[in-house]
Amino acid sequence: MIFRPLIQLPATSVIIAFFLLSFLVIGVFFSTHFHDFSSILQSSTHQKHSTLTNNTTKTPSNNTHRKTDIPLKCSDHNNNTTQTCPANYPSKPDPNPDTSPPPTCPEYFRWIHEDLQPWKKNGITRRMVDKAQKTANFRLVIHNGKAYIERYSEYWQKNRDVFTLWGILQLLRRYPGRVPDLELMFDCDDYPKIKKRPRRWPFDEAPSPLFRYCGDDGTRDVVFPDWSFWGWSDINIRPWEFLSKDLKEGNKKVKFTDREPYAYWKGNPLVAPHRMDLLKCNVSDKEDWNARLYVQDWEKEKQQGFKHSDLASQCLNRYKIYIEGSAWSVSEKYILACDSVSLVVKPLYYDFFSRSLMPLQHYWPVREDDKCRSIKFAVEWGNKHIEKAQSMGKTASDFILEDMKMDYVYDYMLHLLTEYAKHLKFKPRIPENAVELCSEIMVCSAVGLEKKFMMESLVKGPSDKAPCTMPPPYDRAALRALLRRETSALKLVEKWEKDYWINQTKHV
Ligand SMILES: *[C@@H]1O[C@H](CO)[C@@H](O)[C@H](O)[C@H]1NC(C)=O
Ligand SMILES: *[C@@H]1O[C@H](CO)[C@@H](O)[C@H](O)[C@H]1NC(C)=O
Ligand SMILES: *[C@@H]1O[C@H](CO)[C@@H](O)[C@H](O)[C@H]1NC(C)=O
Ligand SMILES: *[C@@H]1O[C@H](CO)[C@@H](O)[C@H](O)[C@H]1NC(C)=O
Ligand SMILES: *[C@@H]1O[C@H](CO)[C@@H](O)[C@H](O)[C@H]1NC(C)=O
Ligand SMILES: *[C@@H]1O[C@H](CO)[C@@H](O)[C@H](O)[C@H]1NC(C)=O
Ligand SMILES: *[C@@H]1O[C@H](CO)[C@@H](O)[C@H](O)[C@H]1NC(C)=O
Repeated sequence: MIFRPLIQLPATSVIIAFFLLSFLVIGVFFSTHFHDFSSILQSSTHQKHSTLTNNTTKTPSNNTHRKTDIPLKCSDHNNNTTQTCPANYPSKPDPNPDTSPPPTCPEYFRWIHEDLQPWKKNGITRRMVDKAQKTANFRLVIHNGKAYIERYSEYWQKNRDVFTLWGILQLLRRYPGRVPDLELMFDCDDYPKIKKRPRRWPFDEAPSPLFRYCGDDGTRDVVFPDWSFWGWSDINIRPWEFLSKDLKEGNKKVKFTDREPYAYWKGNPLVAPHRMDLLKCNVSDKEDWNARLYVQDWEKEKQQGFKHSDLASQCLNRYKIYIEGSAWSVSEKYILACDSVSLVVKPLYYDFFSRSLMPLQHYWPVREDDKCRSIKFAVEWGNKHIEKAQSMGKTASDFILEDMKMDYVYDYMLHLLTEYAKHLKFKPRIPENAVELCSEIMVCSAVGLEKKFMMESLVKGPSDKAPCTMPPPYDRAALRALLRRETSALKLVEKWEKDYWINQTKHV
C-alpha cells in the first residue's frame, strides 16, 4: 500500500471493500428510505423561527478539557419553519488552549505533501478547479469559517455525501477560525478519475484537483477520509469514535492464541470478480485452504436488525482476509483493528492512511493470482510463528486505534485543507447557486439512524488542543528507501511461499 504515486515502480496498495460491494446490490433498496437532504438544501426561504437549544448528547470523549460549547440551535419543527444557520458561530480558536506542545502527526500525514505535489510549483487556478466539475458531486466553499455547497448531482448512495459534509461541518466546529477560505470539488464515486499523464511541455497545465476517498498508481485524485468515520447509517455502522472503542473492547474477549487458527472473511462477493474467486478457497470436503469464508447478505441483515453484522464480534479468528471490492473498502480499518493478522490480498487502491502500512509489519501480503495457496501458507506460517503473528496483528491494531483515532482524522482534514488552500491562486468566492450549510441544517430534520449517528458524532465545541504538527515531506531518498523496504518484504514472502509449495509437492 505504498508509494506508487511518485516512483514509477510496481508497488502494492491495500484497501478493502466489502461493504461497498454489498451496496451495489442493496443500496437501491435503501436509498428511498432516507431523508431527502437535497430538498433541505433547496428550500432556503427564511421564515421566522423559534429557537430552542437542545442538550446535545453526551460528550463523545472527555480527554479534552473544553470550556466552551457551541450550542446546536434547531428551530421548532412542528411550527412549520425552515431551519436556518446561526449567524454567530465562533470564528476563533478556543481562547483557553491547552499549552502543552502538540504531538507530531502520524507518518501517514506526509502523504498530504505527495498528493498536492502536482500544484506545488505553480499553484491551482480557478480554471483547474472548475474543470473538475465534470464528475464532481459538489463544490465546497469555505468562506470566513462557514461552509457553502453548490451541488451538481446527488450520489446515489446518499450516506456518502451527507456524512462527508457532516464531517466537514464538524471540523469547522472543532477548529473554528483555523480552516482557511477555499473552494474544492468533491467526487463521491469509487474510482479515481484524474489520470496521471506525462508533462510534455514545461507549460502544460497541471491536473485538476479533485477530492475523493481513494486513489491508485495511475491517478492524481486527492484522498480524503471517507464518510464512514461519521457513521454509515444504511448498514448500521456507528461513527468511528464509538466503533473503534467497541472493537478495542471486543479484542479483549478472545486472546490471540485462543482464536480459531483460520483465515476469516465475511462480505459481499457479488461486487467484484476477485471476490467470487476468493470464495473458491473456502473449506470443503476435498480441500482445506485454512480459510473460512462467509457471504454477507445486507438486505437480510437489515430485516433482522443487523444482529449478525456486529463488527466487534467478528474478531474470533487469528487471521482476517482483506480483499478490495469495486475499489478501496471502508472495511479495511475494521479488519486491521482486530488484533488478528490481516491477510491482505494485493490491492490496487489506497486511501488516506493505507500507504503507510508495511507488509510483514502491519499485514501479511496475499497474492492476487494464487489466493488459496497463498492463504494456506500464510496461516501455516502464522500458526508456526505464533509470537510474530501476534505482534503483527497488534502493530496493525495499534496503528488503527491510536494513529487513526478521530482526533487525528480531524487533524488530517485540517492539514490537508490548509495545505490545499495555500496553493490556490484565486480568491475563493461563494457561487450564486450555493447554499450555506451548517450542522443545524443537516441534523435538525434528520431522522432515524442518520440522526442518531449525527448526534453521536457532533463535535460539541472548539478543541482546546492545538492540532498535531505536520511532518515534513518525504525526500526522494526516503521515499525510495520506503519503497525498497516494501518491495523486499513482498519478495521475501513470495520466496517463502514458493519454497513451501515446492517442498509440499516433493513430499506428496
Ligand atoms: C439540559 O441539561 C441540563 C443538565 O443536564 C438540565 O438542567 C436542563 O434542564 C436541560 N435542558 C433541556 C432543554 O433539556
Ligand atoms: C470522564 O469523565 C468522567 C466523569 O467526569 C470520569 O469519571 C472519567 O474518569 C473520565 N474519563 C476519562 C478517560 O478521563
Ligand atoms: C409558531 O411560531 C410563531 C412565530 O414565531 C409563534 O407566534 C407561535 O406561537 C408558534 N406556534 C407554536 C405552536 O409554537
Ligand atoms: C407551511 O407553511 C406553508 C406556507 O405558509 C404551507 O404552504 C405549507 O403547506 C406548510 N407546511 C406544513 C408542513 O404545514
Ligand atoms: C464456507 O464453508 C463453511 C463451512 O463449511 C460454510 O459454513 C460456509 O457457508 C461456506 N461459505 C460459502 C460462501 O459457501
Ligand atoms: C431536541 O429535543 C427535542 C425534544 O426532546 C427533539 O424532538 C428534537 O429532535 C431534538 N433536536 C435535536 C437536534 O436533537
Ligand atoms: C520441507 O518439509 C520438511 C518435512 O515436512 C520440513 O522438515 C522442512 O522444514 C520443510 N522445508 C520448508 C522450506 O518448508
